[in-house]
Amino acid sequence: MDKVRAKAFMGSMVNILNSGAVSMMVSIGHRTGLFDTMAGAGPLTSDQLAEKSELNERYVREWLAAMASSGVVDYDASNDSFELPVEHQALVTRAGGALNLATMMQYTALLGQVEDDVVDAFRTGAGVPYSRYPDFQRLMAEESAAVFDATLLDATIPNIPGAVEALTEGAALADVGCGSGHAVLLLAEAFPNSHFTGFDFSDEGLETARSRASEAGLTNVDFVAVDAAELDATDAFDIVTTFDAIHDQAQPAIVLSNIHRAVKPGGHYLCVEPKAASSLAENMTDPMATFQYTVSTMHCMSVSIAGGGEGLGTAWGTELTTEFLETAGFEDITMAEVRADRANSHFVCRKS
Ligand SMILES: C[S@@+](CC[C@H](N)C(=O)[O-])C[C@H]1O[C@@H](n2cnc3c(N)ncnc32)[C@H](O)[C@@H]1O
Repeated sequence: MDKVRAKAFMGSMVNILNSGAVSMMVSIGHRTGLFDTMAGAGPLTSDQLAEKSELNERYVREWLAAMASSGVVDYDASNDSFELPVEHQALVTRAGGALNLATMMQYTALLGQVEDDVVDAFRTGAGVPYSRYPDFQRLMAEESAAVFDATLLDATIPNIPGAVEALTEGAALADVGCGSGHAVLLLAEAFPNSHFTGFDFSDEGLETARSRASEAGLTNVDFVAVDAAELDATDAFDIVTTFDAIHDQAQPAIVLSNIHRAVKPGGHYLCVEPKAASSLAENMTDPMATFQYTVSTMHCMSVSIAGGGEGLGTAWGTELTTEFLETAGFEDITMAEVRADRANSHFVCRKS
């Protein structure tokens, strides 16, 4: 028994307890707009912040106490005021766009809602279906939209050889597992000569996507309900994309093979998946590894298993992804760099 180690671990456990707790309070700060109100406002008392944000003072004061004691905001005890330091602003405000990690903190509460299901699943080996995550589409859309806004048109699409030229002239692109369709809508607006199809099996995601397309007056886009494992298209698209939509498939190999068949010869498939290696040993030093394995257990692996699937997990990683892409028939698989999308790997694949 190493007493020093035991004491250090006690400190770690207290930190873990506090971090779990504060992630929920950061999520609340994001959802209530408290961080956005504090940004650039200088020192504020709880009364001033409550008034400015039109929220209940007692709740705001308790939230501020958690934010101050965790170091998210500065506290001046001499006048009981709180300030969001300029160095913290991008990481917790909507103005921070893709840098805003407060968006991600919403997953703590979302995943907490299915803890009972997941505990049962540990005993039975069963999965947890998508229907058990009522807020998933909204949260996923919010999280990925910030990344799409920052990267899709300027970096992600230009990484596909010839894509900008083809889409400018007029091409067909499909996004499989499109969710609420933000990527498809950005592309449809930027490339009016091309046609875009979003596929998903979530009615909620598709309804949001369709209503946003009609609000924007876009006529070059369709959102189609389909299970990607039954996608039956041959040589139909110049480009197919998936964003974070393969690892949680029940039948990833069948879906990739369907995508391969759907791409025209000489066309491309862009597969964007969470950045990880396929082995735990290599992921041990990755700062996002714990979050990935947790989201995997509480969602990605479990929804796949619920569909009778393989449960690849969020961190199925580069090596295994490449194997699956090759097995599906893709050639010239390269990894593209998108600096502002730190959480994902971009596999650009060609169909010969
Ligand atoms: C992690 S979300 C990503 C959504 C979107 N691509 C984004 O980045 O915001 C995965 C999406 O794939 C969809 N999906 C999962 N399995 C599917 C299947 N077999 N067929 C069609 N869609 C599927 C889910 O409904 C969900 O919208």
